[in-house]
Amino acid sequence: MALLVSFLIAGLFARLCAAQQAGWQPGQVNATMCQWQEPRAGVIRDTVYLDGGFLWWEPGMSDGSYGAPTNDGNPLGIVYSLNFSIPFSTAQSFNMSTIFGTTSKGAGGSEANNIGPLYYDGAMFANDYEWITYGGLLSSTDAYSPPPDDEVAQYNQYAYGPPKQFENGFVLEYLPSGLTRYITDGAAVSVPSENLGFYFGGLRSATFGDIYYDPGAANASLNADSLSETLIKVDMSDQENSVWHNYTLPTSVPGRANAEIVWIPVSKQGILVAIGGVIFPSYANVNQTDNPAQTLESEQQSPAFMSTVAVYDVANQVWYEQETSGPPGQLTQGCAVVASAQDGSSHNIYWYGGFDGLHPAATFSDDVWVLSVPSFMWMKVKSGTPSHGRAGHKCVKPYPDQMFVIGGYPSLGGADFSCLEGNIIQVFNLSSLDWLDNYDPSVWSNYSVPSMIYDMIGGTGTGSATQTAPSSTTSSNATMIALFQQQYNTSKITTWYPYQAATTSSTPRPTLPSVVPKPGSGTPSFLAPVLAVILGLVFITVLVVGIMLWRRRRLLSVMGTATQSENGTVDPRRGVLGWLRAVPADAKAPTITTEETPSSPYDDENPYMPPEIGGGQVHEMMDTSRPQELSDSGTGLVPLALLSRNSAQGGLTSSPSVASHTSATSTISNISGRHPSNPAISPIAPSPNSPEEGRIISGVSNLSETDKGHLRGISETSGVSVATGSGAAAISPLSPPKVEGGDYISAKAGGEGTSGPNDGSGSPGSKRRSNFSEELGESKK
Ligand SMILES: *[C@@H]1O[C@H](CO)[C@@H](O)[C@H](O)[C@H]1NC(C)=O
Ligand SMILES: *[C@@H]1O[C@H](CO)[C@@H](O)[C@H](O)[C@H]1NC(C)=O
Ligand SMILES: *[C@@H]1O[C@H](CO)[C@@H](O)[C@H](O)[C@H]1NC(C)=O
Ligand SMILES: *[C@@H]1O[C@H](CO)[C@@H](O)[C@H](O)[C@H]1NC(C)=O
Ligand SMILES: *[C@@H]1O[C@H](CO)[C@@H](O)[C@H](O)[C@H]1NC(C)=O
Ligand SMILES: *[C@@H]1O[C@H](CO)[C@@H](O)[C@H](O)[C@H]1NC(C)=O
Ligand SMILES: *[C@@H]1O[C@H](CO)[C@@H](O)[C@H](O)[C@H]1NC(C)=O
Ligand SMILES: *[C@@H]1O[C@H](CO)[C@@H](O)[C@H](O)[C@H]1NC(C)=O
Ligand SMILES: *[C@@H]1O[C@H](CO)[C@@H](O)[C@H](O)[C@H]1NC(C)=O
Ligand SMILES: *[C@@H]1O[C@H](CO)[C@@H](O)[C@H](O)[C@H]1NC(C)=O
Repeated sequence: MALLVSFLIAGLFARLCAAQQAGWQPGQVNATMCQWQEPRAGVIRDTVYLDGGFLWWEPGMSDGSYGAPTNDGNPLGIVYSLNFSIPFSTAQSFNMSTIFGTTSKGAGGSEANNIGPLYYDGAMFANDYEWITYGGLLSSTDAYSPPPDDEVAQYNQYAYGPPKQFENGFVLEYLPSGLTRYITDGAAVSVPSENLGFYFGGLRSATFGDIYYDPGAANASLNADSLSETLIKVDMSDQENSVWHNYTLPTSVPGRANAEIVWIPVSKQGILVAIGGVIFPSYANVNQTDNPAQTLESEQQSPAFMSTVAVYDVANQVWYEQETSGPPGQLTQGCAVVASAQDGSSHNIYWYGGFDGLHPAATFSDDVWVLSVPSFMWMKVKSGTPSHGRAGHKCVKPYPDQMFVIGGYPSLGGADFSCLEGNIIQVFNLSSLDWLDNYDPSVWSNYSVPSMIYDMIGGTGTGSATQTAPSSTTSSNATMIALFQQQYNTSKITTWYPYQAATTSSTPRPTLPSVVPKPGSGTPSFLAPVLAVILGLVFITVLVVGIMLWRRRRLLSVMGTATQSENGTVDPRRGVLGWLRAVPADAKAPTITTEETPSSPYDDENPYMPPEIGGGQVHEMMDTSRPQELSDSGTGLVPLALLSRNSAQGGLTSSPSVASHTSATSTISNISGRHPSNPAISPIAPSPNSPEEGRIISGVSNLSETDKGHLRGISETSGVSVATGSGAAAISPLSPPKVEGGDYISAKAGGEGTSGPNDGSGSPGSKRRSNFSEELGESKK
């Protein structure tokens, strides 16, 4: 029964495009991606996937004005994807929403809740087949309980080897003992050719326990404000059984927040180079404010993360510290990619953007810097426009000569909450050192070392660098430098470019996601019976209508009108569709129910997703519209015929109304990310539904408790804190206890002391796999 009902519910959902899904305001006519703070990103072959982070939308209003940007909290757990086959323009006027594909982690496109909650920051590890998300900060909510400390989400896009019973989609995975998901703000890198992912440094709570986004001073123990002196490694060689390690860093390699780490194809398994990052970033302060003693300490120590970089030999698990020449000052929340000279004689690490981690209202960097190795020389290769700067973005390299900068947020310096200057995606030519106006998958070249770099390290555009070791004024470890002379087996690296240009107007969509919810997670116990009753009623209604239609059909055929029916004039099946379309709002209760219920429609009694749904429907977005609005507009419903796998057609243009009853959620007054330190910010144009600044849920009525809980979740996701909004930040009680001031460093110094890598957990041990069929019915551990 539940199976059938789920199927029907799925049929009622209309596809949504990569538009703002919830939180539309009255009078809103369009939405533009405004800023995207700290998403995590990973590339599988020809597509970059973006998960989590706070995505803010700027609403365009019917009177021609723009409303205050909103962050809808991504209740459907949408993962965005961008296929490198799709050309686009980076002009401000280009609607970037139209090129993203979307996938919901909520079963059947319902709310994702704790199956796929929104994480701020954290990592996405990807190889050529799958990605795994790890770490990051949850927003506190009472709508559902947080996922267990060892749960991570994996998305399987392709099968390793010949598929046996491969089903692509989401699965939940479990970490071994000795490792939790309670870490954030580390530096992540994926190494597809080795099936490895690494997470370097980052922040944790003082107790290594649960961490939340901006938990407030009252919950200081849930704040991620201590440095994590670890290197987390995941080996994805076995699709069914990733192996995780938690290594403690040697004392010579200090922890840091929001560094960047890159992989360089030399020696047996490559080397990692960690650059940038800071200690005591203001956003990690539980009060989200500047702390003078910590600021001073950060200003003294953080520049060293640029001037002395940590180098890790993957195969031998040895760390080195290497001095560089000509470094930039301290920077965090930038992004980095590597471009290797065609002959491998130099590897140029590009760093773009970021800020000092201490002054979120100061100008952000819009510069591009290059650290060339093995010479370990820095060069600023592009000076930007300060107002265009950004931090908290991600960079990926679709082609050897191009870098995408995706997301980020601007400085909080302005009076208002502002959107990024320039579009949410920027494209940089790594060879010519120019920002490009557009991306075209048919235009690319091999990487050519820019003259600015080869003037410094010798050689030409194709390589032949003469400076193949750090300059004699900087000391270096010969063993480390020798690694650069050993060739990496480049046949292990699969290249996926060039990408065939996608045919116009077809919407990029990742194929066939389906979710494998963990049984019993997060559903308040009272909901199951309620849901069951409602679904039962729906089922009975459907059954009754079906019987009536069947009787009618029999009647018709008895009357000899069957042929007429085949001509399509009175076909009872059409009758069903007509009923589904015309049915009054009340009868569409299941749409609302599923949307508002923190449970999956695929509950425990329903072990299988119908293949039709898993195969063709689940990746369509649920319509969050009010049923009444659906009836009004007449466009919200999708005929059951859409259940067939015709997902290739462009979905963005055929999208239904996205007006939602969650409008007015989180109309934000003053907060950006973990930097709500500018007390002066006020809404650009408060929604009529938001009479009070800093209040979020006002104007929403007729909501069930569940709804309100959900909205609270959203509002907290949005980073709104009444305390901050009411001036706590302005008062800025900057009198940190001295004890805390010394905390990171002393803890670090005393914490461990091994000089080599220390395998903290080693064994894959208790790795369990949550599989829909396997774990079904087994109660949560
Ligand atoms: C961009 O496209 C999306 C999807 O079609 C739409 O919802 C949104 O309103 C558009 N934004 C603008 C500014 O037109
Ligand atoms: C979006 O709405 C704003 C405000 O009404 C309007 O100025 C702008 O032209 C719209 N954008 C598009 C692409 O329709
Ligand atoms: C923080 O503290 C408040 C009470 O002060 C509590 O209601 C809330 O659940 C706590 N937890 C989080 C994660 O914010
Ligand atoms: C890594 O291991 C250490 C103990 O060696 C532990 O304290 C820490 O919590 C672990 N890190 C994570 C993210 O679980
Ligand atoms: C990048 O610049 C190089 C050198 O000017 C040029 O050959 C190449 O075509 C450019 N790539 C793109 C995508 O514009
Ligand atoms: C890039 O270099 C490879 C090998 O050197 C060569 O085969 C290929 O034609 C080059 N591609 C372009 C677009 O120049
Ligand atoms: C180079 O590093 C290795 C590994 O840490 C170490 O054993 C060796 O002593 C170092 N050599 C020098 C000259 O510092
Ligand atoms: C290089 O890698 C390829 C692909 O994994 C493998 O077939 C080949 O044997 C490797 N070559 C060497 C010298 O290890
Ligand atoms: C990306 O687009 C190309 C061209 O349309 C298509 O062949 C490919 O399957 C798409 N990739 C994914 C992951 O959907
Ligand atoms: C945060 O603010 C509270 C008072 O609101 C203060 O007691 C505490 O010391 C502050 N903590 C830090 C790390 O600044």
